[in-house]
Amino acid sequence: MPPPRIHLSLAHMSGEEQKYIQEAFDTNWVVPLGPNVNAFEKNLGDYLGGRPVVALSSGTAAIHLGLLLLGVKAGDEVICQSFTFAASANPIVYAGAKPVFVDSEQETWNISPALLEEAILDRIKKTGKKPKAIIPVHLYGMPARIDKILAVARKYDIPVLEDAAESLGSEYAGQKCGAFGELACLSFNGNKMITTSGGGALVCSNPLQAEKAKFYATQARDPAPYYQHTEIGYNYRMSNICAGIGRGQMTVLDAHIQRRRAIHYIYKERLAGLPGISFLINPTDDFHSNHWLTCIIVEKEKAGVTSDELRLIMEAHNIETRPLWKPMHLQPVYSGAPFYGDGTSEYLFERGLCLPSGPSLTDEDVERVVGVIRYAFDKTGKN
Ligand SMILES: Cc1ncc(COP(=O)(O)O)c(C=O)c1O
Repeated sequence: MPPPRIHLSLAHMSGEEQKYIQEAFDTNWVVPLGPNVNAFEKNLGDYLGGRPVVALSSGTAAIHLGLLLLGVKAGDEVICQSFTFAASANPIVYAGAKPVFVDSEQETWNISPALLEEAILDRIKKTGKKPKAIIPVHLYGMPARIDKILAVARKYDIPVLEDAAESLGSEYAGQKCGAFGELACLSFNGNKMITTSGGGALVCSNPLQAEKAKFYATQARDPAPYYQHTEIGYNYRMSNICAGIGRGQMTVLDAHIQRRRAIHYIYKERLAGLPGISFLINPTDDFHSNHWLTCIIVEKEKAGVTSDELRLIMEAHNIETRPLWKPMHLQPVYSGAPFYGDGTSEYLFERGLCLPSGPSLTDEDVERVVGVIRYAFDKTGKN
């Protein structure tokens, strides 16, 4: 019998979720709004320092609505971090705009402030107008270099929409990711810091913006007794059932963050000294990643094994790992999109691997992962 499977990042319930779902059934609030939605939004808003939050059907929907609120229209350009999941960029296309991709810096793996400025200047030169928005991502929970990104954005007066889908609970200089930009998206997909089975949220800067987001998320219905629409709307609101799961999950968010951080530190400690392995780590004390996923870089020349060979060895031991996100500028669907880069995200993509990091992993599970990585490195005879 093979050993039990170790998954990359599984959802973990607090036990409180059922209570809120039951409440929704008992009061017949089985609709895409209701008391759980309001309470979940309040919980999230309080967590993010008092920002108004709108609960939606997905993080992707949040980015889409965010772009609409920023006035992104057909023909506009929007700058997006290239090293990310496709959901960061696809809503740019939904809005009829064009993505411009910018490479990462080496330390945070997130958008390089220097390349961002280079891209803005070049787009102004080439198109005669400024990009309409900037989407930095706090990938794998690591805060982007947000102070420098905001400084560039302010210099050219371009709004920032943070993609905080993977970074709930991460902090930069004591402030939570998702509370920096004019807007931010969160995701509660099954593998994220907390889940609502599927869902997301738009973090706003002021209540007016949140009202506008709710308006677009509920089919843009005009204030009339009949159904009248002067604008195109969407059906993007979170259901009261999903929000019930979210309320339960909020009670274990801090515990989830602590556990993912603890797992990261066990990996780092237990794998220290292996040649050719390095980690995505907080570059300075200002950065405080939630370590949503612990990521490693494997240098074949020193390790004797590539990240993909390692992935296959792990798979043979019933352990799930995953390559890093394939950068958007390398995606067939985005071939032809402008890209400003220096090879950083390609380098990371070719050598990186995400390790199992879910909050329900036991220390023994982590030890098993460590053991197989050590075995894979030893197999090469170099260590
Ligand atoms: C970086 C990033 N952005 C956006 C999303 C989209 O979130 P959702 O799956 O809730 O639409 C995800 C996750 O799926 C993500 O990892």
